[in-house]
Amino acid sequence: MKKISLKVGFLVFISIFIIDTVLFFFLHNGIIHSRVDEELMSLKARGNNHRDVLEESFKEETLQHIVLMESQSDTDVVITDQHGKVIASSDTIDDEIIQELSKKILSPPRDGMVLEDNWKQEQYLSTVSPFFINAKNNGYVYMFKRTDKVQELISRLNEHFFLAGLLTILFMIITILILSKVLTTPLIKMKEATKKLSRGDFTVTLPRLGNDELGELGQGIQLLAKDLNYIKQERNEFLASISHELRTPLTYIKGYADISRRKNISEEERATYLNIIYEEADRISLLVKDLFDLAKFDKNSFTIMKEKINLSEMLQAIYQKISPAFINRNVQLEMHCSSKIFIDADPVRFEQVLYNLLDNALKYSEAESKTTVEVKKINQNIHIYIKDQGKGIPKEDLPYIFGRFYRVDKSRSRALGGTGLGLAIVKEIIEAHGGTISVESSLNNGTCFEIIIKENKE
Ligand SMILES: Nc1ncnc2c1ncn2[C@@H]1O[C@H](COP(=O)(O)OP(=O)(O)OP(=O)(O)O)[C@@H](O)[C@H]1O
Ligand SMILES: [Mg+2]
Repeated sequence: MKKISLKVGFLVFISIFIIDTVLFFFLHNGIIHSRVDEELMSLKARGNNHRDVLEESFKEETLQHIVLMESQSDTDVVITDQHGKVIASSDTIDDEIIQELSKKILSPPRDGMVLEDNWKQEQYLSTVSPFFINAKNNGYVYMFKRTDKVQELISRLNEHFFLAGLLTILFMIITILILSKVLTTPLIKMKEATKKLSRGDFTVTLPRLGNDELGELGQGIQLLAKDLNYIKQERNEFLASISHELRTPLTYIKGYADISRRKNISEEERATYLNIIYEEADRISLLVKDLFDLAKFDKNSFTIMKEKINLSEMLQAIYQKISPAFINRNVQLEMHCSSKIFIDADPVRFEQVLYNLLDNALKYSEAESKTTVEVKKINQNIHIYIKDQGKGIPKEDLPYIFGRFYRVDKSRSRALGGTGLGLAIVKEIIEAHGGTISVESSLNNGTCFEIIIKENKE
């Protein structure tokens, strides 16, 4: 199950094991070498000592004295003449060995030399120091040390190394177990959390996992769960709104279609009903078009074809088309825009924005009031104000009016024919242009929308 902990553990184990083995190998070899070197040096020093004594007084007595000294220690001495004949010996060292060794020396330095250092295979470590009497080579002092002592020492050292190695491995395993647990437990928790998410269960709670990358990942997953939950709720609400919005006109259509089917109604009545059916169908088709636009925003497949636009020309064109509706409702419409203001925008989409905002201004205004469109250039930006003297929007509704299907007064707006998608589309379009839109309103006094968009200066 915990595959990652196995993997991490195995990798760490192998790497530490290799490092340890190499380290131990060098340490072990170093210790043995210096140990054997030490033995050889002290052996040679001892031999040199005897040589000095012999050079000072080469007498039978001195020989006896040296032999006696050596028979009491764990080293042995053999003294030969210049031809290799043994003249004194502290132990029964084979003559053959001496013969063998004497072949190795041609002219050993006065300071002595090592003859045998192979502690593994040979029985003795040995050194030789020549002694001179009257500046003439008079013989050799051979020193011996049994290698079994050294071997014993080294096997003890090996035992220690083995024990240390075993302890290291044990310690390593424990550390790795703890480490992999610390590392992998949060990972496993996150894996389970994401599994839960993919099953559609968004009630994920991860414990705080610290400030490192793991902690950040955990927080990321938590945030994702929250967002997904929000999206799910929003989608549900959205679907509920859509079906509600569609049901109402469809009920009308069905009802009036049923009545107009009857034979016993007058032509005039039938025409009225058919008219209502037509209007409701129109409403549905508008709604579907708006929804389609919004869906395109959600999919990011909405393409904005920007062009350099002369804002005052665009406003004039809009004025031509929309002013009859204002005149009809007896609402005054004014536009102020200098002729040299240019922006980069998709003409169709940008017109849609202004239409939606002016449509709202008219819809939510009383007769005799005034709606003004004003364009100002502030720094590098163009500010467009659409200001009416209508009913205004209550403070508590202001944050939501750009939401989909949001209407301040459901019954009131229903009568006016709105669906609550207009401002949602406006906001999406403005943001797709890289601009911002904000609103200020006071109840019964009027509302002012402000669009800020970058100026095209070329
Ligand atoms: N100028 C305004 N004056 C007063 N209230 C407004 C104004 N503009 C918008 N509102 C309020 O904000 C709500 C949302 O506006 P929006 O344009 O999104 O929807 P709608 O006008 O109701 O319907 P649609 O524009 O889709 O036909 C409106 O229902 C209205 O209550
Ligand atoms: Mg509207």
